[in-house]
Amino acid sequence: MGYYKNKHVYITGGSSGIGLEIARKLFSYGANLTIIARNSAKLEEARRNIEPFKVSSGQFIRCLSVDVSDSAELSRVISQAMKEFGAPDILINSAGIITCDYLGNIPYDKFDAVMKINLYGTRNMIAEVLPAMKKGGAYCHHFLNGRISGYVWIYRLRHFKICAGWFSRVSERGIEAEGDSPYPGMPA
Ligand SMILES: NC(=O)c1ccc[n+]([C@@H]2O[C@H](COP(=O)([O-])OP(=O)(O)OC[C@H]3O[C@@H](n4cnc5c(N)ncnc54)[C@H](OP(=O)(O)O)[C@@H]3O)[C@@H](O)[C@H]2O)c1
Repeated sequence: MGYYKNKHVYITGGSSGIGLEIARKLFSYGANLTIIARNSAKLEEARRNIEPFKVSSGQFIRCLSVDVSDSAELSRVISQAMKEFGAPDILINSAGIITCDYLGNIPYDKFDAVMKINLYGTRNMIAEVLPAMKKGGAYCHHFLNGRISGYVWIYRLRHFKICAGWFSRVSERGIEAEGDSPYPGMPA
């Protein structure tokens, strides 16, 4: 796991659930973290939760409170963060909300909220960091959850294979993309 040592990993949704688990694990491998979510109290709690997994004294955890669906504010916060602490070597998009039901039972406002956060939020975050990451020749991996629930895009994290969707088509030359799908009929 030496690969992650001193790598700077940005994790949206790093204050809870999947994002928090990934944060703990990568911190225990020696990575530096920038965790991103809306609620700053939850972010600070996550920082306290991750801190015991530190393996070297120079490691840091930074918390950024911002809504990934707000592209203007995200742009301001992320560009400032990259100026101060550098671009990510690895980006993990795990911010998301979930709505599990048949499509016909999901009201427009709920569907809209999921799309704004899970889809556009992922797009917004990638758009902010991609130019800087491309210089490093990024590896990307995608998650696409079923049930309109979430998109997670992971750079250089081969072992979290769920499935890939059309986000793989967004990949640009110079960035290796990989995807697979456990759902019959879903594009990989
Ligand atoms: N749990 C599963 O089994 C599973 C499996 C596959 C995929 N997924 C999908 O993966 C995503 C994460 O799941 P999870 O279980 O880790 O959820 P979770 O425990 O609820 O965590 C969601 C994280 O995203 C953040 N977040 C939500 N909306 C945000 C926004 N607009 N801007 C910035 N951060 C935001 C939350 O913090 P704040 O609320 O403070 O912003 C929190 O840190 C979801 O979309 C889910 O559908 C989940």
